[in-house]
Amino acid sequence: MDRIRIVGGNTLSGTIPVSGAKNAALPLMIASMLTSETLTLDNVPRLADVEQLIGILGNHGVDHSVNGRREGQDTHYGRTINFRAESIVDTTAPYELVSKMRASFWVIGPLLARMGEARVSLPGGCAIGTRPVDIFIDGLNALGADIEIESGYAVARTRKGLTGNRYVFPKVSVGATHVLMMAAALARGDTVLENAAREPEIVNLAECLNAMGARISGAGTSTIQIEGVTSLGGATHTVLPDRIETGTYAMAVAMTGGDVTLEGARADLLESALEVLERTGTEITPLNSGIRVRRNGGGIAPVDIETQPFPGFPTDLQAQFMGLMTRAKGRSTIRETIFENRFMHVQELARLGARISLNGQTAIVEGVEKLKGAQVMATDLRASVSLVIAGLAAEGETVVNRVYHLDRGFERLEAKLQACGAEIERLSS
Ligand code: EPZ
Repeated sequence: MDRIRIVGGNTLSGTIPVSGAKNAALPLMIASMLTSETLTLDNVPRLADVEQLIGILGNHGVDHSVNGRREGQDTHYGRTINFRAESIVDTTAPYELVSKMRASFWVIGPLLARMGEARVSLPGGCAIGTRPVDIFIDGLNALGADIEIESGYAVARTRKGLTGNRYVFPKVSVGATHVLMMAAALARGDTVLENAAREPEIVNLAECLNAMGARISGAGTSTIQIEGVTSLGGATHTVLPDRIETGTYAMAVAMTGGDVTLEGARADLLESALEVLERTGTEITPLNSGIRVRRNGGGIAPVDIETQPFPGFPTDLQAQFMGLMTRAKGRSTIRETIFENRFMHVQELARLGARISLNGQTAIVEGVEKLKGAQVMATDLRASVSLVIAGLAAEGETVVNRVYHLDRGFERLEAKLQACGAEIERLSS
């Protein structure tokens, strides 16, 4: 299993190109199942989760081809991939595939909308909480699907196709909003989704579906209106830049000090996190080409945060922010409100000398003068990268084990940090 070795202490300076967003690419790829024509996605990141989903889609009959590099494109630019689901050959998403990635459960929406049936294994994914699927089931029921849980599978059918309806999400859910938007796009009649997720990835999917012929308005607000259409066609669409990757590198710079331009990043996608970073004493300058992040001298000021659905502080940056706060000049509190078990990085950060105590869903972090390198274990995607951030500032050598978690969501992490002066390498075994 690969490991990442870091020798801490270097400041970061230079340019980091931001990749396409994993959490936008995955639902966009799944949307290709809604049409028999070709959906071309630009700026698709090279990530293990993308490869995994390509395999899952292939099982349903979605062919894909990857375009070669074009003039003027460097290797940093994501790939262009064409997806074509001329016919859906299998409406079952088996346990072996779905258990590896929670987002693959989302195929239930397009399968129901296009085929009127789906048999999808209940999902797995990062171990960050129980993550039930009750809202998906409830929402799809509202659109006229009958769903039973049989032997670990959600077995869904529609007798006469899906029908538009008004549905109020009992809790904000990104995945359930994606799925209901996709299903309602091909339902008969109008759908109104209330208390919908407002994440930029929802907007990105709605724009793509509209380019395919859907009639969706209001994405990015809590009320989304969808006028059902009878079929969708092909389109070309660009995956938006990864706001979580952006925030992660911004926190790395805040941690080590230095001056880095995050090329291609969009400040409007993560205002709350950037504002928090400014309060820690980091200078953030939005540029036309990205975001410049600087911290020179001065300590890291402690800031209290609470995770919230967009536009609040993202849960996907909570671990990284905790990494940063381990070296703040004072005490900070971090409250996780989205997932009930997203503190697995706490004990690993403690191995580097961090002082963190947990009180229910709140972590209290007492900033320390110094962290010291150690062997640590990656437990989930964002937790792993918080250990990298801490390792970049720790004295001596840190080795992060179980790097496959990182490969799920960070493209060329070592190369990007190396290029800015970090001493970091992958140890293959
Ligand atoms: C998406 O997960 C992201 N994944 C997650 O990113 C992210 O942490 C999360 O949204 C919150 O922002 C992708 O986009 C692929 P939810 P999702 O449904 O859709 C509860 C990462 O590191 N819930 O918004 O699965 C759920 O348990 C990942 O990239 C129900 O109770 O999250 C959670 O407490 C991990 N019943 C809350 O809602 C349901 O049926 C929000 O989850 C569905 C969700």
